[in-house]
Amino acid sequence: MFQIGDVEIKNRVVVAPMAGISNSAFRLTVKEFGAGLVCCEMISDKGIAYRNKKTIDMLYIDEKRKTT
Ligand SMILES: Cc1cc2nc3c(=O)[nH]c(=O)nc-3n(C[C@H](O)[C@H](O)[C@H](O)COP(=O)(O)O)c2cc1C
Repeated sequence: MFQIGDVEIKNRVVVAPMAGISNSAFRLTVKEFGAGLVCCEMISDKGIAYRNKKTIDMLYIDEKRKTT
């Protein structure tokens, strides 16, 4: 186990960001297989500023699974 700030991560398996792969469904799947920490791909700040739908969709986080 390790900690980032006050967040405890249950193990040291960290899934790297992968463009076009690490979407919400992928992140949930690898967590179910035991990953301690997952992350999404890098997201363009310009895409967010321009409210690009594809970019905004990439920010989706399944709240039910946030801490499991
Ligand atoms: C298909 C694929 C997509 C990737 N996309 C990104 C990305 O969007 N941003 C990023 O910082 N790294 C990206 N990477 C790099 C990975 O995050 C990671 O740094 C790399 O695979 C090396 O990890 P390893 O030393 O555990 O093999 C990507 C890697 C792969 C294989």
